[in-house]
Amino acid sequence: MKILVTGGTGYIGSHTVVELQTAGFEVIIVDNLSNSKAEISDAIGKITGTKPVLEVFDLTDKGKTADFFRRHNDIKGIIHFAAKKAVGESVEKPLLYYRNNLESLINVLEGMIENNIPNFVFSSSCTVYGQPDELPVSESAPIKKAESPYGNTKQISEDIIADTVKVTDLKAIALRYFNPIGAHESAIIGELPPGIPDNLLPYITQTALGIREKLRVFGDDYNTPDGTAIRDYIHVVDLAEAHVVAIQRMIEGKIKIDFEVFNLGTGNGYSVMEVIESFEKVTGLKLNYEIVGRRKGDVEQVWADPSFSNKELGWKAGKGLDEMVASAWKWEKAFREDPALKDGETDIELI
Ligand code: NAD
Ligand code: WQD
Repeated sequence: MKILVTGGTGYIGSHTVVELQTAGFEVIIVDNLSNSKAEISDAIGKITGTKPVLEVFDLTDKGKTADFFRRHNDIKGIIHFAAKKAVGESVEKPLLYYRNNLESLINVLEGMIENNIPNFVFSSSCTVYGQPDELPVSESAPIKKAESPYGNTKQISEDIIADTVKVTDLKAIALRYFNPIGAHESAIIGELPPGIPDNLLPYITQTALGIREKLRVFGDDYNTPDGTAIRDYIHVVDLAEAHVVAIQRMIEGKIKIDFEVFNLGTGNGYSVMEVIESFEKVTGLKLNYEIVGRRKGDVEQVWADPSFSNKELGWKAGKGLDEMVASAWKWEKAFREDPALKDGETDIELI
């Protein structure tokens, strides 16, 4: 059973390919390598014993995408990760984000319709909820005006999918991820942000290794128990497993409406300080950090109500914060010790 994973050499995509192969699926990856490396398909092969096929092209290229689908019309389902995801960059370059994230989506959907491929899983985000009025946030919570062009591409993408399933045979599941962190237990794949990380965990692990001087904690004056902002961090392998469940649900015809939406979170909120404390506990290291002002656009607190996805998908995120943080640290250390880096093969921009 062949599954196309777009963006499959990226962070969440690569972990999902591992879980798909482990579950017995044949995987083909399409990625333009704008935020990942071709070597990731070798790394996946090292973990699973089967190197997935990787086709390198840009999904905003309508001709190449249509040609791909003509050559692979035996695909049974698609998991669409390919997108640009840097919130700050999207504010600076909105058209880049709208073109990349929306054109690629439209080209993939058209390819599916032309070749009668019915099953589509889409990477959405908790960013669509903004600062929710009620916590925990369930799938029925109102969609707030997007804080960034990136967030808006997720909202518009969900609308495009909803409109498309109404008039075609396409079935879709959108998975709204909360904050994915951590890495595969092998430490062969993990999260490798180019340049200076925006996200908390890679910033912490790079600081602990001395690549960054210190972590800046953005705000300790929020209305939370310790004053720092709260998020629902979820292990990337738990997240990856949910994609396997979602694609199986579609293939087995168990989807209940043509477009289903699920939250992927643990249901537990942790503050920035709690993440730092977890890191210090599992590593025995002292993290260099300072409290600074709030980061523009950050919400105060958000965590998922995962009860609908737990019940409907029969899936539950099982890994706790310490395990997530420990796996991120194991990966970061293994990656920095990789001899390839010593040849200058790194995108690391020092402090
Ligand atoms: P990532 O950047 O590691 O992976 C995305 C992959 O897509 C990259 O390998 C990139 O090269 C590829 N890509 C981008 N544009 C492409 C195009 N036009 N054609 C072909 N390939 C293209 O990101 P990730 O963290 O793995 O995120 C995967 C998906 O999940 C994205 O859609 C992202 O918006 C969404 N998401 C991520 C998070 C998060 O915190 N990481 C949270 C919520 C949602
Ligand atoms: C987590 C917490 C920061 C870095 C982003 C996107 C969102 C989604 C997930 C894709 C916040 C604090 C961070 C630092 C800090 N992505 N922090 N110092 O902002 O919840 O979500 O990734 O859809 O759309 O916005 O994640 O990891 O950046 O931040 O204090 O150096 O850590 O203020 O409270 P965020 P994050």
